[in-house]
Amino acid sequence: MLGNFVYCNPTKLYFGENSLDNLEGELKNYGKKVMLVYGGGSIKRTGLYDSIIAILKKCGKTVIEDGGVMPNPTSVKLEEGAKIARENNVDLILAVGGGSVIDYSKAVSVSAYCEDDPWEKYFIRFEDVSCKVIPVGCVLTMVGTGSEMNGGSVITNHEQKLKIGHVFGENVFPKFSILNPVLTYTLPKKQMVAGFFDIMSHILEQYFSGTDDNTSDYIMEGLLKSLIHSAKIAVKNPEDYEARSNIMWIATWALNTLVAKGKTTDWMVHMIGQAIGAYTDATHGMTLSAVSLAYYRYIMPYGLDKFARYAVNVWGVNAECRDKKDVAEEGLEKMGEFMREIGVAMRSSEVGVTEEIIPGVAKATLIMDGGYKVLTTKEVEQILRDSL
Ligand code: NZQ
Ligand code: ZN
Repeated sequence: MLGNFVYCNPTKLYFGENSLDNLEGELKNYGKKVMLVYGGGSIKRTGLYDSIIAILKKCGKTVIEDGGVMPNPTSVKLEEGAKIARENNVDLILAVGGGSVIDYSKAVSVSAYCEDDPWEKYFIRFEDVSCKVIPVGCVLTMVGTGSEMNGGSVITNHEQKLKIGHVFGENVFPKFSILNPVLTYTLPKKQMVAGFFDIMSHILEQYFSGTDDNTSDYIMEGLLKSLIHSAKIAVKNPEDYEARSNIMWIATWALNTLVAKGKTTDWMVHMIGQAIGAYTDATHGMTLSAVSLAYYRYIMPYGLDKFARYAVNVWGVNAECRDKKDVAEEGLEKMGEFMREIGVAMRSSEVGVTEEIIPGVAKATLIMDGGYKVLTTKEVEQILRDSL
């Protein structure tokens, strides 16, 4: 471990089949006005909406609804939500949904009383919050992003063709999150597996960096092995509680800041994936799977030792008397086999990338410098072409 760091995670989690029973107790900690935020309607179809409304009524809350949060929430929707929260002087934002609903709720929580343009302040200039923050609580229905226990919020601006995440501080983390694996059973298979790959990608973004002996890398190898094992079971039987609950827990730990401590982190797959999302509005996890193999093949020579370690420790590749490069390549092949088995997008053409938009997508890609290679925009273009 080489880095200096502070670790604090203020989100309280309630995990398990009966975890929704804890909502009532949590609601007592907040004032009367609750802004209920949800997506395009899945919570109404599954009956969760009725259960939540019943709990809110029982607690005597005044409910202000803000539904229709789209996957990849937009800056236009954010302005609407901030206005609703401000005008109703809400005491708590209750996000019921996946990463989009939670990210949006966090963005609303820091924008309601923001005197600046929130998109410009938080997502272009990456400034800290300097106004009152409304507390956010979550009931999670889709597993993948880790938004339930972190400060991340990703917003898309279609006009500017940009999709950008701001990682806010602890004051913006959800105050509590309710994690019931059963609530994720109704996810369409495409969303379920996109979430699985999102988790894998979060771990890899933090794994492929550094050369020191770091406890976080061992934790991540364990998380990856458990994810691979459970994902194979869950695609065959989505109602396997053991597998789905393990995956829900892995997703939270993959991106609740713990494994990044004491490390630099890469995040280039996410930066390219987000730029694709800004152009095509494709499902987040699929934009990542579509470019991952091309990206990792490209940077492998710069972090060969770690790629060989990944092959051996995560994919069980036999390294005895073999060239490191062969071992590392076999690891990526095995990763590709797993991706095909669970059914995620393997090529960027599957998520709407065409030769024509490649220069624009590459230009919209933020370049990060924590991985094994700092890319140029031309190299991003090359990776996108390799992934077509
Ligand atoms: O909108 P509804 O009708 O609810 O349907 C949603 C949506 O269409 C559906 N869904 C969710 N739970 C369901 C369900 N359908 C049936 N049953 C359920 N139980 O699934 C669809 C996708 O939901 P969404 O919230 O968009 O997915 P996800 O959780 O993958 O979130 C994606 C967003 O999170 C951002 C992504 O960029 C993207 O904008 N991310 C946030 C991060 C963070 N906060 O740290 C990190 C991630 O890397 C990611 O960038
Ligand atoms: Zn992600």
